[in-house]
Amino acid sequence: MRVVEAFRAAYGAAPQTVWRAPGRVNLIGEHTDYNDGFVLPFAVPWGVTAAITPRTDGTIRLLSLQAPGDPVTIPGHDQSAGWTRYVVGVFAMLGDRVRGADIAIDGDVPRGAGLSSSAALEVAVASALNDLHDLGMTPMEIALLSQKAENDFVGMPCGIMDQAASALCEEGHALFLDCRSLGSRNIPLDLAAHGLSMLIIDTQVHHEHAGGEYAKRRAECESAARKLGVPALRDVTDLAAALDQLQGDERKRTMHIVTENHRVEALIGLLRAGAVTEIGALLNASHLSLRDQYEVSSPELDVAVEAAIKGGARGARMTGGGFGGSAIALVPVERLSSVEESVTAAYAEHGFQAPRFLPAVPARGAHRLA
Ligand code: GLA
Repeated sequence: MRVVEAFRAAYGAAPQTVWRAPGRVNLIGEHTDYNDGFVLPFAVPWGVTAAITPRTDGTIRLLSLQAPGDPVTIPGHDQSAGWTRYVVGVFAMLGDRVRGADIAIDGDVPRGAGLSSSAALEVAVASALNDLHDLGMTPMEIALLSQKAENDFVGMPCGIMDQAASALCEEGHALFLDCRSLGSRNIPLDLAAHGLSMLIIDTQVHHEHAGGEYAKRRAECESAARKLGVPALRDVTDLAAALDQLQGDERKRTMHIVTENHRVEALIGLLRAGAVTEIGALLNASHLSLRDQYEVSSPELDVAVEAAIKGGARGARMTGGGFGGSAIALVPVERLSSVEESVTAAYAEHGFQAPRFLPAVPARGAHRLA
């Protein structure tokens, strides 16, 4: 393993443990996680591998095969910028349960594709430390700690979906997660058995304002819930009555969250019934809601979705936080090249940078490699 070789070359001995944690795509249930709602992500085959040996002096030495150069030395928990803060954040959350470490990181999550490489990094490191120090954390506790690192240390007010997917997913399954109870169930997702493939369309675009808009959406949802007198938008049962009490953006956001939770449940119903081909309509509806009510799509995502459907996809939607990143398309295998051609042509027509296509097969969550 090349991460082990890099570790040995930098620190002069083999690492005590090596963990791998994946990125994710979300099948459906977008922006519902921080509204106490439902999500249905699955892990992708790309992830982050962390080779680690604990230290006892509180220092973190860190190197990444994707950031060539000498290891970065970080004393304590306070000096960090760029990608290293996701790692230092995990140490900060673990507090005096750990005393520094030597770490080598190797990642193959396509950069900027919105497939949660940061969650993969946090979960890989947290899982390895949990193992090395016998901390006894469950995968969900590891996900929660990683989310807290991102919320409190990195300053991104994300929900629990990405970290939970990275920690808990199983190969060949999507993870149905109730983000209030944190109860979860792995649901079989065998697309190939139905002659289908899930195509990731990476727009290769990431809009700078994404972080600010994310926090704004979250605040709008919380404000709407307060006005409605419910703990979270998850609790809205009478949508029509709720919409009567709201105006403007808060009204639109509520419309999305409430209907999106229903779409997650409907999609699970279809999967249970073996009607996998029929989930496309729900993906389309989710995209329209994210575009028109939640307003987190982008021209590149909209064109990808429209062109994928035109090319023969059964359904498509943006996935993840939005404002760039990736869309997913459910495609009969015999239509794959026609979908790719359709999207590529539409991108050229709009003068967009060519997209990248990646096949998404539900992969395994965090696990120990050595
Ligand atoms: C980002 C966040 C998640 C979730 C999605 C939107 O990926 O990290 O917590 O809110 O956006 O569904």
